[in-house]
Amino acid sequence: MSANGIAAVAESYQKFNPRAYLQNNYMPPRANFASEEFAVPWKLRCLADAFATGEICGRTLIDIGTGPTIYQLLSACDYFEEIVATDYLEVNRAEIKNWLLGEDSSCFDWSPYIQYTCKIEGNGEPWKEKEQKLKKKLRRILPIDVHQAKPLGSSLSQPADALVSAFCLEAVSPDRPSFDRALRNVTTLLKPGGHFLMIGALDESFYLAGEAKLSVVPVSEADVKESFAKSGYRTRSFRSYVMPPSLKIGVDDVQGIFFIHAQKTA
Ligand SMILES: C[S@@+](CC[C@H](N)C(=O)[O-])C[C@H]1O[C@@H](n2cnc3c(N)ncnc32)[C@H](O)[C@@H]1O
Repeated sequence: MSANGIAAVAESYQKFNPRAYLQNNYMPPRANFASEEFAVPWKLRCLADAFATGEICGRTLIDIGTGPTIYQLLSACDYFEEIVATDYLEVNRAEIKNWLLGEDSSCFDWSPYIQYTCKIEGNGEPWKEKEQKLKKKLRRILPIDVHQAKPLGSSLSQPADALVSAFCLEAVSPDRPSFDRALRNVTTLLKPGGHFLMIGALDESFYLAGEAKLSVVPVSEADVKESFAKSGYRTRSFRSYVMPPSLKIGVDDVQGIFFIHAQKTA
């Protein structure tokens, strides 16, 4: 893959608008908590079920390409001492910092997500406690570039016990070889035997975030499984979601969502 393709992706992200992205994907109709037929509760269910196995735990979890969102960390926070958020864009890292500080009244409201996660986890945990727990564990918000051999530079001295990543690699890679290389790059951040939970878009070619139109490399279920196998993972579970017509709202051309739980073999 040419460096030009990656440079063009980086250029297109300069116009990424976190607020527009949140509006498009994390508000109704996609964030409808009435049923798991809707995209957001489906994603929260995948994560809650994976962590409920109790197998995915340890000292550090890194979220690759956190963006302006924290939903992907809600079930994780019971199982790790520290959670590290990462993103390429300062605007997204600032969005997470604002949420952590809780002082900006225009901050995105994640409370329905936290309440829903507490409900499906079924432990009777008050949602405010979960919110505080995540805020306490989310101590570092680091710059990342998945196209670098060392995506976090020298920020972390030890490999993580687990990785999470949602809608990142396919949304920042101009083609399949570049997606595979990015996967290999982030795999260096994970210890052998560590777990990787990835959620992503199936067969998507673009999405909108305000004025930005971001290209996405379309991947199929088979592509995702093959990429993980080639990068030295064993697939532990795989689920997919078909985007219903009612959620095709013109903000992207996504056909579905995948969830993979993979374990690094060596
Ligand atoms: C589609 S958003 C996903 C955000 C969030 N994880 C979610 O689940 O909605 C893609 C994210 O990748 C980030 N990104 C762009 N270029 C990147 C790169 N080279 N390395 C890592 N992340 C990058 C963007 O800033 C953006 O936050």
